Formats: sequence, structure tokens, C-alpha cells
Amino acid sequence: MNFDKELELRVKKANQAIEECLPKDEGMPGNLVESMRYSVLVGGKRVRPVLMGELFEIFGGKGKELRFIQSAMELIHTASLCHDDLPALDNDLLRRGKKTTHAQFGEAMGILAGDALLNYAYELLFDGINESENKENALNAARILSKKSGYLGMLGGQSVDVEHEKTGIKGDQLEILEYINEKKTAALIEGAMMTGAALAGADCEQLKLIEKIGNRIGLAFQIQDDILDVTGTPQSIGKSVFSDMKNNKETYVAIVGIEEASKRVIDFTKEAVALTDELPGNTEFLKEMISYLALRKN
Ligand code: FPP
Ligand code: MG
Repeated sequence: MNFDKELELRVKKANQAIEECLPKDEGMPGNLVESMRYSVLVGGKRVRPVLMGELFEIFGGKGKELRFIQSAMELIHTASLCHDDLPALDNDLLRRGKKTTHAQFGEAMGILAGDALLNYAYELLFDGINESENKENALNAARILSKKSGYLGMLGGQSVDVEHEKTGIKGDQLEILEYINEKKTAALIEGAMMTGAALAGADCEQLKLIEKIGNRIGLAFQIQDDILDVTGTPQSIGKSVFSDMKNNKETYVAIVGIEEASKRVIDFTKEAVALTDELPGNTEFLKEMISYLALRKN
């Protein structure tokens, strides 16, 4: 298998779905639609829709609803980035190689674009349910995605992260850092993968296994993100470097050092790859994708 080519194909398909689902910039006065479109279309690796599509495929999904749910997923992720970059949070000016939404359109529009993307994601989720021939599967998928991005998932992790900027995390409180990483980052990756499988009718046991795989991918993904924050350049990662240090963020890199952090990325990745052996279907691309995420440079 030529992984790069296969990945390119899947990213292209995800981008087509997202572009078709985005609101058109016509008729509405003001900058809201433009800032929504800008935030999504400036770039992004589309990791979550690709993972969702792959699990859908592995479980033999066939319906037309996938594209709506993939787009909803990417819009929820993008909304979180819009808000994460705001002055009240990480106060970053560069994202996906371009100005952040608030840097381009002003702080108010940074808030509103994030809100509008999040709200519109739910319209797309309903569209997906509507398109689906198996409403029970689609409802299950929509519920998983809602929960994984909510107060028990991404938003919960983000809030603990923000609260610890003031107090810091001591070296013996690694479990707090693990909680933050598990929720603010892994939850959405778990959600993407579980949603793809749920849409295709995966059962409860299978969803639990996928959640575990997504968790290990997500933990590796966030530690790699922390490593890139100190080893990358604005050109290579498309966002500001040393953002964590600037915001007094404790990360694995700050607490245990780059070498130990890199080791954890490898360990979580190996565990995720090994767990995919328990999945049905062809998991060749998924395995390669997991390794690609651990070795990513942006
Ligand atoms: C980059 O994803 C994003 C992360 C590593 C997750 C960080 C967590 C948050 C920003 C928390 C959510 C924030 C709020 C306000 C709820 P990526 O590397 O896939 O980015 P890309 O789509 O640009 O490639
Ligand atoms: Mg942040």
C-alpha cells in the first residue's frame, strides 16, 4: 500500500465533503460566514474526519450520511481551535499557517465564528441523521460525538487545562496532565473513530475497543503536539512555537523532558497499533495512519 497516496485520497474526499457542507458566503451582511469559512478552509490535516471515514469503512458502512457527520466533526474541532486561540485562552495569532480567526477578523468575530461553527455542526448532524437509512445507528453516532466534545470530553479537559495555568501541575501530579490530555484531545479522536464505527453499526463491545484505541492515539497525539511546540518552527507547524511556555502550561515535555515524552508517544502508539488487531476488516491503512500521527511534523 502506498500510504501517502491513500492518505491524500482520503483527505481529498473529506475536504470535498466539508466544502460542500459549509455555508455559502452569499446574501448575508457582515463577516460571520466569511470568518466561518476562513477558519475551516485555511488548512488542517483533517485527521478526525479521515479516522471517522476509515472506521466507517472497516465496519462496512455504505450510507450517504458519513459526509455530513465528518463535516460536523471537523467543524466542532475548528470551533475549538477558534476559541482556543482567543486572547482569553491561548492568545495565539498563527494557526494552520495563517492568521488565527480573531487576528484576522477581530476578537468578537473569533468568538462568534466559533459559536456559529459549533451550532452549524449540529445542523449537519441532524442532516446526517435525516440522510441515514438506519436512524438508530445515526442517533447513536450523533450522541457519541456530542458527548465526546462536551463537558465530559473536550470542553471538560480544556477547562481543567485553563484552570491549571495559574496553579501549575507539579511533577507528582501527572495524572492531572493525563486527565487534561485524555479529555481535551483524546476525547475528540475517540469520538471521531467511534462515530464512524457506530454509523456502520458497530456493537457496544466493539465501540469500547475503538474508544481505547482512540484514547491511546489521542494521548500520543497531544504529547507529540507538546513536543512540536518546542522543537518545531512556525513554518513547519503552522502555529506559534513555545505557546505552552508562554501560557504557563505544564506539558509532558516540561515535566519529564523531551526524551521521556517521545518514549511515551512511541509506547501509546504501539499499544494503539496492537489493539487494532482485534478489529474486523482491513486495518492496514489505519495502522499506518496511527504511526504517521506519532511521527508527524505538523
Ligand atoms: C490540534 O489538532 C489540536 C489539538 C492538539 C487539541 C488541542 C486541544 C484544544 C485546542 C482544546 C479544545 C479547545 C477548546 C476551546 C474547547 P490538529 O493538529 O489536528 O490541527 P489541524 O486540524 O489544524 O491539523
Ligand atoms: Mg490550548
